[in-house]
Amino acid sequence: MKAVYFDEHGGSEVLKYGDLPDPTAGDGEIVADIHAASINGADWKVRQGSYAPVAFFPYVCGRDFSGVVTEVGAGADFEVGDEVFGVLPVGQEGTYCEKVATKAAVLAKKPAELAHIDIDAVSLIGLTAIISIEETLKLKTGEKILIQGGAGGVAGFAIQLAKHIGAYVVTTASEHNHEYVRGLGADEIIDYNAVDFTRAVSDCDAVFETVGGDTGIKSFNILKPGGRAAFIASGMKSPEPTRDDVQSLRPVVGRDRHYMERVADLLKQGVVTVPQLQIFDLKNAVEAQKISESRHLRGKLMLQIR
Ligand SMILES: NC(=O)c1ccc[n+]([C@@H]2O[C@H](COP(=O)([O-])OP(=O)(O)OC[C@H]3O[C@@H](n4cnc5c(N)ncnc54)[C@H](OP(=O)(O)O)[C@@H]3O)[C@@H](O)[C@H]2O)c1
Repeated sequence: MKAVYFDEHGGSEVLKYGDLPDPTAGDGEIVADIHAASINGADWKVRQGSYAPVAFFPYVCGRDFSGVVTEVGAGADFEVGDEVFGVLPVGQEGTYCEKVATKAAVLAKKPAELAHIDIDAVSLIGLTAIISIEETLKLKTGEKILIQGGAGGVAGFAIQLAKHIGAYVVTTASEHNHEYVRGLGADEIIDYNAVDFTRAVSDCDAVFETVGGDTGIKSFNILKPGGRAAFIASGMKSPEPTRDDVQSLRPVVGRDRHYMERVADLLKQGVVTVPQLQIFDLKNAVEAQKISESRHLRGKLMLQIR
């Protein structure tokens, strides 16, 4: 199969486009022909070696896909020809390529009316937003939440989910993204380049922090006493709170079919929309990763593989 992979950690120049062996299905696994996969912030961090060094080379990035089952291992509950999508189990990567073997239990059937590229675009971001907003922050109707980095993938899904719950949503974005995040339902938008967000918003019940660094640490300031903050871009542990009357939480983003079914339902019901997509061929994955690394994209970067 064709794949984009690296043989050593480093900058985007280590990514190569070439041939790798086709995978085969183990017990409980299926093999799928990948139609669409997405670029996520984790991908270039893995490539750089910012997480633990990868266990083997050549290494293929990519955590989610939508595609068609071509082989079914013992005990896997799909059939050849089924259209499926999902996020690979924690610890498995490899969707910048034409085929993947993975556990059937983390995948769901793709709704026939949705395109591979659209459902895949919301798989990892939807999973992360659902676990962060509903399970970790336990956001409630009438609460006020600051969602940092509203134009990004996870935050854009989270804005729509928070509005659906009935929360009041404040978000941060560069000026050129204000119309986009307003369209997602944000009630208030802060241009974080022009003003210090800690002066523009206060008394929040919750913060969903998707940016990291100083933005994360300063986010504690705008919470009410008793407020909760959830962090997905500050490493594997949430930062130490700068005050003792708030909670600092790190969502545990597990994988399971029921999350994928929920993401598909939210999309079908129109609770969330497909984010703005920028689509690349597999061999141009390097260009997509460079944009992701710049941290100023809008919506999702996608690979159209078939
Ligand atoms: N399981 C997990 O823990 C998990 C899962 C998914 C993602 N993540 C992490 O979550 C982060 C977000 O990922 P993503 O894919 O949703 O988004 P992303 O595409 O990485 O986010 C880019 C967005 O961040 C905004 N941004 C950059 N600096 C900002 C700042 N100082 N203040 C406010 N906004 C800022 C940019 O908006 P402007 O252009 O408007 O500035 C851009 O739209 C990444 O670090 C990713 O690795 C973690």
